[in-house]
Amino acid sequence: MRVLVVGSGAREHALCLSLAADPAVTALICAPGNAGTATIAEHRGLDASDPAAVAALAVDVRADLVVIGPEAPLVAGAADAVRAAGIACFGPSRQAAQLEGSKAFAKDVMAAAGVPTARAALCVTAEQVAAALEEFGPPYVVKDDGLAAGKGVVVTADRRQAAEHAAACGRVLVEEYLDGPEVSLFCVTDGVSVLPLLPAQDFKRIGDGDTGPNTGGMGAYAPLDWLPAETVEQVVAQVAQPTVDELRRRGTPFAGLLYVGLAMTAAGPRVIEFNARFGDPETQVVLALLESSLAGLLHAAATGTLAEHPPLRWRAGAAVTVVIAAANYPGPPRLDDPITGGDQPGVIHAGTRRDGDGVLRSAGGRVLSATAVGDTLAEARDAAYRLVAGVELAGSQHRTDIAAKALATRSPAS
Ligand code: AMP
Ligand code: GLY
Repeated sequence: MRVLVVGSGAREHALCLSLAADPAVTALICAPGNAGTATIAEHRGLDASDPAAVAALAVDVRADLVVIGPEAPLVAGAADAVRAAGIACFGPSRQAAQLEGSKAFAKDVMAAAGVPTARAALCVTAEQVAAALEEFGPPYVVKDDGLAAGKGVVVTADRRQAAEHAAACGRVLVEEYLDGPEVSLFCVTDGVSVLPLLPAQDFKRIGDGDTGPNTGGMGAYAPLDWLPAETVEQVVAQVAQPTVDELRRRGTPFAGLLYVGLAMTAAGPRVIEFNARFGDPETQVVLALLESSLAGLLHAAATGTLAEHPPLRWRAGAAVTVVIAAANYPGPPRLDDPITGGDQPGVIHAGTRRDGDGVLRSAGGRVLSATAVGDTLAEARDAAYRLVAGVELAGSQHRTDIAAKALATRSPAS
């Protein structure tokens, strides 16, 4: 199978690592890719935000399967264009990707499908925002309605800050605060059947102890030993399957990766957000443990044959990833600094590039994702932090407490 992976982040590097090791894959192309994917896949230039260009490249490289990594091309309609060219595509249509592209759309689908989530009010004016903040009370949760790379959400006890964020965004959702540890559950779907992957936990805040602003994600681990065994099945039955069924009922089936972001509240699992693609950095740990053919799984989802897919096989043990971010992230990151240690096995690349001089340099906010597996969570964590210690990047930041609480207490970290 000839596979084209679209994107240039750590998620795409992780996807390429699994696909490159998959005997079912005869050719692997990544576009536009980063310095990490360049070592394992053929690179092609691409403006991923242009659906016609994605489809033309898929035809040009004679892809049997296109895997679209990030949300922006999906929301722009890249999967529709690839499918229109007669090529199997892992990734939802433009309309189905609205599940991530518009938080208001996601709430509407959840309401129709009876999916448990936070109560929310869509607000456009300052008066509506004030009324909603009053109704839900602190801590205040204010979300930009559109795509914001994980940075459009403010959770704060400070009412003025909440109102200011709302004013800066324009169209926002003000939400009830959900109290409880967060879980990311990736569900592969062909629009009818749903196959869950291992649950993972992401660390969204920049600072140790879950302090500071939200980021795209600073680290992750899987699986979650503390999560009751029946929870995954429960989330598929109460969240993923009804959502997939509702989108099919609307005539806009969702085929690809339904990322269910949950808070495990005292009243049960509640959806915090949906994404329409693999999460980053959770993908790095989930795929590190997958033993089944990734190409086979994604192809089954892209071709409507997931019901016939055999049960997934997983490596025993655990995986941990620690994100190394540039100085000033999640603000405008410092760029172009040389990196050493970035080529250690397990160091997955996000924002990197290699210049003609052969030097690896930072080229984004999240730069690297140090990923390791182990027979236990402790071993995986130690190995991941050893990789981090082997990396030098001036001014870089990383959290020192990824998976620490789960390890200490066998209970959730955040
Ligand atoms: P989102 O982009 O919707 O995933 O939000 C980013 C992060 O903000 C989440 O991972 C949570 O940590 C936090 N968050 C979002 N919505 C809520 C909520 N209703 N209650 C508590 N925390 C939330
Ligand atoms: N790790 C969160 C996300 O991918 O949106």
